[in-house]
Amino acid sequence: MDNRNIQCLGIATSPRGDGNTTILLKKALEGAAAGGAMTELISLNRYSFSPCIACNGCYKEGRCVIHDDMQAIYDKLLLADRIILAAPIFSMGMCAQAKAMIDRTQRFWATKYILNKSVIADKDSRPPRKGMFISAAGSGHKGVFDGAIQVTKYFFLMLEAEFAGSFCYRQVDEKGAILNHPGALKEVYEAGFNLATS
Ligand SMILES: Cc1cc2nc3c(=O)[nH]c(=O)nc-3n(C[C@H](O)[C@H](O)[C@H](O)COP(=O)(O)O)c2cc1C
Repeated sequence: MDNRNIQCLGIATSPRGDGNTTILLKKALEGAAAGGAMTELISLNRYSFSPCIACNGCYKEGRCVIHDDMQAIYDKLLLADRIILAAPIFSMGMCAQAKAMIDRTQRFWATKYILNKSVIADKDSRPPRKGMFISAAGSGHKGVFDGAIQVTKYFFLMLEAEFAGSFCYRQVDEKGAILNHPGALKEVYEAGFNLATS
């Protein structure tokens, strides 16, 4: 096992800069940093990539044949030991930006299930990979996060990362409303810390 710091990648997917899920993500990354992780936050707003076009080009070698900004995100996803996905609920599922990125990780599905290879070739010499989900929704609807959590579990399965839990907050709608939530910021800080140290 190498002795470098745990690398924790936070992915902000909301189109709303510094919206509720990005505020939560920053707090979780603060916790991860306090736990000794090297952290990086990327915002999908700054990346330009196409949705998956179902060309099956990745079936050959497990690589995506579309050469856009997703290539840089692949590198970061492969390097990270911990991944925190932050995505708001839009129309009862995760926002389209997050889903488009996840669809583009079909290359990892192809690596595992078409080519029967490991996505993380050197996983025996690295810390075990783990992933966590953060979300917010305007409504108080009981099942509002169900679909997004299912998609996230599938995402982490493709990435060979253990699902380490979800932190989802209802009735948080206006930009910045999460700052008035009684316990969310503390909870995600601690979750980030635990993710880094577990
Ligand atoms: C296009 C759109 C669709 C939305 N759909 C839902 C929804 O189906 N259910 C819900 O509870 N909230 C919905 N919301 C509210 C957001 O989930 C809420 O404002 C959340 O706090 C946004 O997080 P953010 O600030 O990180 O973007 C929607 C918001 C937008 C812009």
